Amino acid sequence: MGGLSWFSFLFFVGVLGFESSKGVWGLACNWGLQSTHPLPPDIVVRLMKDNGFDKVKLFEADPFALKALGKSGIQVMVGIPNDMLASLAGSPGNAEAWVQQNVSTFVSKFGTDIRFVAIGNEPFLHSYKDMFIQTTFPALQNIQAALVKAGLGKKVKVTVPLNADVLQTGSSLPSGGDFRPDIHDLMLKIIKFLQDNGGIVTINIYPFLSLQADPNFPKEFAFFSNTANPVVDGPITYTNVYDANFDTLISALEKNGFGQIPVVIGEVGWPTDCDPNANIDNARRFNQGLLDHIAKGQGTPKRPAPTDVYIFSLIDEDNKSVEPGNFERHWGIFNYDGSVKYQLNMGKGKTIVPAKGVKYLARQWCVLSPSAGVSDPNVLSQSISYACQYADCTSASPGSSCGNLDPQRNASYAFNMYYQTMNQRKDACSFKTYLWLRPWIRLSHLVVSRS
Ligand SMILES: *[C@@H]1O[C@H](CO)[C@@H](O)[C@H](O)[C@H]1NC(C)=O
Ligand SMILES: *[C@@H]1O[C@H](CO)[C@@H](O)[C@H](O)[C@H]1NC(C)=O
Ligand SMILES: *[C@@H]1O[C@H](CO)[C@@H](O)[C@H](O)[C@H]1NC(C)=O
Repeated sequence: MGGLSWFSFLFFVGVLGFESSKGVWGLACNWGLQSTHPLPPDIVVRLMKDNGFDKVKLFEADPFALKALGKSGIQVMVGIPNDMLASLAGSPGNAEAWVQQNVSTFVSKFGTDIRFVAIGNEPFLHSYKDMFIQTTFPALQNIQAALVKAGLGKKVKVTVPLNADVLQTGSSLPSGGDFRPDIHDLMLKIIKFLQDNGGIVTINIYPFLSLQADPNFPKEFAFFSNTANPVVDGPITYTNVYDANFDTLISALEKNGFGQIPVVIGEVGWPTDCDPNANIDNARRFNQGLLDHIAKGQGTPKRPAPTDVYIFSLIDEDNKSVEPGNFERHWGIFNYDGSVKYQLNMGKGKTIVPAKGVKYLARQWCVLSPSAGVSDPNVLSQSISYACQYADCTSASPGSSCGNLDPQRNASYAFNMYYQTMNQRKDACSFKTYLWLRPWIRLSHLVVSRS
């Protein structure tokens, strides 16, 4: 990879940030719903408000979330998943039905303050091959036309959340930024369309993934407080990959005549588990630096004005695909239940506060029975695999926060995760194994706490 230096790993990007009607840049977050036990939407809306968030991005038009956001004072960007792009591209009527059901209804009936529709999510990601190359732009055009037809053309704008891998840089410096050759013309058409219709460019920025993908990435450069490893680009000195990434996009836009289009960051954050760099200290360091950056109203060297930055993510999601890595389930600044993971100053003198009114299951746990008398991990592994197929055991995987449990405790962890995920169903704490000379041994039993 010689010569490409830090830029070669700037794959994962997102953007956002917008000017509210008062001309103030707000605090924004992503609200993902891929959890086995999602918090009730009204509790999440209260959590956002209590912590000063006034903008939110949803990955899909979840009706319960959109309803709960009604009259909340929170502005909404609502996403369209990639797998819906083909149908929306295929017919204007489909786009009209989508807007009617997923936007108009919530705006008029529930007072949901929808400001943006995000068409697809990182549809040009290299690893998707060319799956969404044909459909993204027509879907964008059809949704824009449908918004106008629904009388929402002024209020609701369109965007396409992009991964940083739409960019490349010949010089390996931000100023060398341009769009990838295979989608260069398509990107220009899309950006011109966004500009003509008052839309915005959205990019996702992932310093953690830059670090995770490249053992030679200078770690300090991932953080805002870095003083070592600056990247000098002509008159500009970059001290962090966040600014460098963002300005690579700005250079690409300027080079192609779109230097004025608004750009927001759609996703940026840091996970807390399941990777050597994913832990509480690094996540706090990164996210506090990010929040301070936002609170100071700072932009980047090439775009000094602040923009909307949608933090990824609000809450952990224990049912997210772990294909990119087990850390995928640990991006939240809150745990799955809305409890605080680590202290954060949210700006305006506010510290982070937990969710209120969360209801829990009974205080009981499923653990490995001491009478099972098993010390051989191989005897347990089948039951553990079964449990972890349905429950989130990522924190007990090697290299994670609970990755050093002895075999007995490791089994208890898995059994209990399964039991809780199944809502403490009676038969969900009934793990057995079949052994030579004995028909079977019961492996698990229940512990009930009195308090
Ligand atoms: C978890 O995700 C899988 C695969 O996407 C899905 O089939 C399943 O219904 C989800 N489970 C819950 C409880 O949401
Ligand atoms: C949005 O509207 C379409 C109708 O076009 C519907 O099929 C879809 O399920 C709705 N909801 C979401 C989350 O997209
Ligand atoms: C513990 O369980 C996890 C799954 O929860 C598994 O990945 C790991 O290999 C197990 N470790 C031991 C020591 O058994």
